[in-house]
Parts: sequence; structure tokens; C-alpha cells
Amino acid sequence: MGIKVVDIAYPRFRAPDLDRMEAFLVDFGMVRAARTNDTLYMRGTGAEPFIHVTERGDPAFLGFAFLANSVEDLEKLANEDGASAVESIDAPGGGKQVRFTDPNGFEVSAIAGREPCDELKVIRQPTYNEGHAKRRIGEPLRIDAGPSQVIRFGHCVINGIDFRESEAWYKSRFGLVTSDEILLDKTTALGAFMRCDQGPRHVDHHTLFIIGAGQPGFNHAAFEVENLDDLMAGNAHLTEKDHKHEWGIGRHVLGSQIFDYWRDPWGHTVEHWTDGDLFNNETPPAIGNIEKLLASQWGPPAPATLGS
Ligand SMILES: [Fe+2]
Repeated sequence: MGIKVVDIAYPRFRAPDLDRMEAFLVDFGMVRAARTNDTLYMRGTGAEPFIHVTERGDPAFLGFAFLANSVEDLEKLANEDGASAVESIDAPGGGKQVRFTDPNGFEVSAIAGREPCDELKVIRQPTYNEGHAKRRIGEPLRIDAGPSQVIRFGHCVINGIDFRESEAWYKSRFGLVTSDEILLDKTTALGAFMRCDQGPRHVDHHTLFIIGAGQPGFNHAAFEVENLDDLMAGNAHLTEKDHKHEWGIGRHVLGSQIFDYWRDPWGHTVEHWTDGDLFNNETPPAIGNIEKLLASQWGPPAPATLGS
């Protein structure tokens, strides 16, 4: 039977040059957790042992892991069609996993029981003076230059062969619920923003977005940073280091996050975001359209290349 996952844990990529991937991810705001001959594990400031995995090989997006509540939940999940047995994870933090291949060929797992690590110090937590709320009195504000500080992996967006098939597959195994469904016309759904079902506990507006595109594909992986200043400092740093910028800075409509999209050296889109919506079981699913999906409340329009 299916379970209700708590969050998303990490995406897995393949790339031929781990040094180059690590250098990009350091500029993007992550810290090396571990490195073997074949695999690079990067972490954020949060307690998760790693939040991004790169295996050596031809460039590809391989899949991602959800965070389950407990190893007992993994034992339940292992009874689902197509599930692996509960296996030990041979990576920093250890823990257990159950692996699947989703209807689009992506390797999707649920993990639990990892050993948390010490959180890293967050350097940019300014006190803001807003027009009608002055809080920083008699103190100058100085923002440290350098990369953003990625806290955690927040969501993944994938293209699926058939949206309804993928939606049912993910919801039945991992307990995801819809925040916003995107309609192409009155009856055809393009995709949906789905979040974890944690009952009354508020969670991110979306953890997974599946676009019914007729064929599998990776769209983007998104990482949370502390606040607007952290995101802006990171934008300046990535610009200075000559990395490829894709879209931003703006504020989404659906999910409301302030966003900034970049490409890794092999063209995978990775997003910094901050200040997103938090929903719980009192928020009913909503219906949106493509205009709303791609719209910004402020900021530049979406490029046609997004995620391609
Ligand atoms: Fe995103």
C-alpha cells in the first residue's frame, strides 16, 4: 500500500566531469558532502546528509528520491507493484530505500532512516526596514558577497508521457495531493503542481510538477535559499562566474516563490527559490491555465527554452 511522503530529498544526475559539476554546485551554493571515484554528493545548510547526487557518465537526469516518514513506511511501500525490497543506502548518512521505475523511465525512490548531520551556519539573515515596519534601528546592513546558501531540495519538475497515468502512479504510491491543476482547455489537463500530504502540517505548495508532454524529460530541480538577499547575492556570484542564466529574477503566480533559474554545465535547469506558499489539508485543489503557469507577478517573461 502507498504511503504519505514527507518531502523530496535529492535529484540524481549523471555527468562526465565530477570536478566541473562540483565547481558549478559550489558556485550555486552547495557544499561537498562526500566524493568517491564515481559519485559526488553535495549538501545544503540543512540537516540532510546530501541534497544533490552526480554519478560519473554520459550527461542525464536519472531520477529523484522522496523522504519517507519511517523505515516502517518503506516496508509498506515495498509491497507496491514494481517496488524493490527495502535496501540499505550506500551513501553519506546511510539509511534505507525502496526503488521504483516510474511510467516515464525515471528512477524514483523513497528513503528513510538517514543519520542527520549538523546544520551549517546561515550567513545572510538581515533585519529589514520596510516602509511601515522599521525594525533595523541604528545598524547598517551589509550583505556578504559570494554564492547563495542552498538550504534544501524543494521540488522537481518532469515531463511525463501521459499526465493522468503519471499522476495516478505517484499519488497512489507516495500520497501526493494536488495544489493546482493546469488545464489546456475545458477537459484536458496539461499537468499539476502536487505537494506532500501531511494533514494539518503546512508544506510547500509543490514538491513535484508533472507535465504531460508525450515523452519523458527533465524540466528543472529547485533548491530553497534563505531569503531575497541570499538569492540576489547568488545571482551576482553566478553571473560573475559566467554561468548560464535562464530565467529570473521574478515572483511566480502559482506557488508565489521568488525564483531564479540557471543551467548546470550540461544544460540541466536548476532553480533558486525563496518565500513560497505553504498549504495544508484545509487548502482545496485549484484549477489554473498555461498563462497562470508561466506568468510572473513581477519579473521577466518565461523564456521559450525553459527546461528544454
Ligand atoms: Fe520551480
